[in-house]
Amino acid sequence: MILRGLVSLFGESKMKSTLQRDIKPLSVPESGVRRRVSVLGSTGSIGRIAVDLLRAYPDRFVTESLISGGKNVALLAEQARCLRAGIAVIADPSAYCELKELLAGSETVAAAGYDAVIEASGNHVDLVIAAIVGFAGLLPTLTALRAGCNIALANKECLVSAGYFFMAEAHRLGVSVIPVDSEHSAIFQALLGANHCLPERLILTSSGGPFRTWPLEKMKNVRPDDALAHPNFVMGRKISIDSATMMNKGLELIEAGHLFDFSLSKIDILVHIEQIVHGFVEFSDGSVLAQLGAPNMTCPVAFALGYPERLRVRSPRLDLMSLKCLHFDLPDEIRFPALRLARQAFSSGNVATCTMNAANEVAVEGFLSGEIGFLDIIETVSETLDHQATGTAKTIEELIDLDQCARDYAQSVMKKHLRP
Ligand SMILES: NC(=O)c1ccc[n+]([C@@H]2O[C@H](COP(=O)([O-])OP(=O)(O)OC[C@H]3O[C@@H](n4cnc5c(N)ncnc54)[C@H](OP(=O)(O)O)[C@@H]3O)[C@@H](O)[C@H]2O)c1
Repeated sequence: MILRGLVSLFGESKMKSTLQRDIKPLSVPESGVRRRVSVLGSTGSIGRIAVDLLRAYPDRFVTESLISGGKNVALLAEQARCLRAGIAVIADPSAYCELKELLAGSETVAAAGYDAVIEASGNHVDLVIAAIVGFAGLLPTLTALRAGCNIALANKECLVSAGYFFMAEAHRLGVSVIPVDSEHSAIFQALLGANHCLPERLILTSSGGPFRTWPLEKMKNVRPDDALAHPNFVMGRKISIDSATMMNKGLELIEAGHLFDFSLSKIDILVHIEQIVHGFVEFSDGSVLAQLGAPNMTCPVAFALGYPERLRVRSPRLDLMSLKCLHFDLPDEIRFPALRLARQAFSSGNVATCTMNAANEVAVEGFLSGEIGFLDIIETVSETLDHQATGTAKTIEELIDLDQCARDYAQSVMKKHLRP
């Protein structure tokens, strides 16, 4: 329904996505010409990996903008000095003087505030690493896309909230969206070997999170520190909690639906404890292509940075002999209802997916600050979804209003769950 609505808005040919259209390789820079890159969210978990790679390849990349929230000003300044970035921006204007002082005498201009974030995001470069966390990343990333920058997309909340607009805009402008999420990068890489044959099924893998085997009764008493301890990855706080509730996999289902223009009924989730196989693509002849790699984010970030070439990265190599066997299981949707909620929201339209994302962001914050319990996170999302209307938002402005309404409602739901 929403798809049809948008087809009439944007025109059918423009609704094709990464899968249907030819995956456009970024142009390979001529020898000696460096790829110009900006990093949105450079001080975060993904951003730091990207910065390390940019530092390791000064002959291949030149850094234009580094953007962050403002909680790690010293780190941002150090990154900017090392990479000799054109501009370093923080969203929080109160830390501007500190940033300016730290950058005094360097080649980097300091800037602060929301308008500066948007302006720097719109500087034209060859590739933007979009790694701001949450809905806050939507407008900066969309601004970069509209400036004609190819996007290496880590910020999944962008697609969950506004996937149709985002992908339609990418297609209209002819820019590439290269997934950074490891599962989507795996599928993207497997599809490169598909020779334009459409797959029948996609499979995303999941570690199952730290509470994969915990009974519900025990999950009631989970504390933030338990939930932040992901079994395989060191990640930002929000995505760590999303992994523990399995909302991360729900967000990734929707992300995959948009990136690959694929029905969610044909996308499966498999719990895979070792996190070695990141994604599978199954074809009509029963053949399955998969991408494997050690469980770390350096590989997918490096793939997106270098695409269509591969960088020589000093990351841990896969040792299949020491692994011996790999384990797979189905997710338990009773203990982890986020997967069901995500599928339902996707089939209801972008009002529901935007609402789900907003309520989840609020509830995760509420849990991290000790206001609500672990199981209250998904309960808050579910109650907010029940309350909000479904349907199709036709503009980004509508989605921004919806996001705020959903946040307000989720706050009121949380009050019912407040811990004594
Ligand atoms: N971490 C992973 O392994 C992983 C894997 C796959 C996908 N992802 C996705 O990648 C995104 C980033 O995740 P992460 O784990 O790297 O998050 P993170 O460690 O929390 O980092 C978030 C980054 O966003 C910046 N930021 C926050 N609010 C901002 C704002 N309003 N304006 C500008 N910058 C802002 C932060 O700046 P400050 O430092 O100043 O707060 C930081 O640089 C998320 O969407 C996540 O789902 C992450």
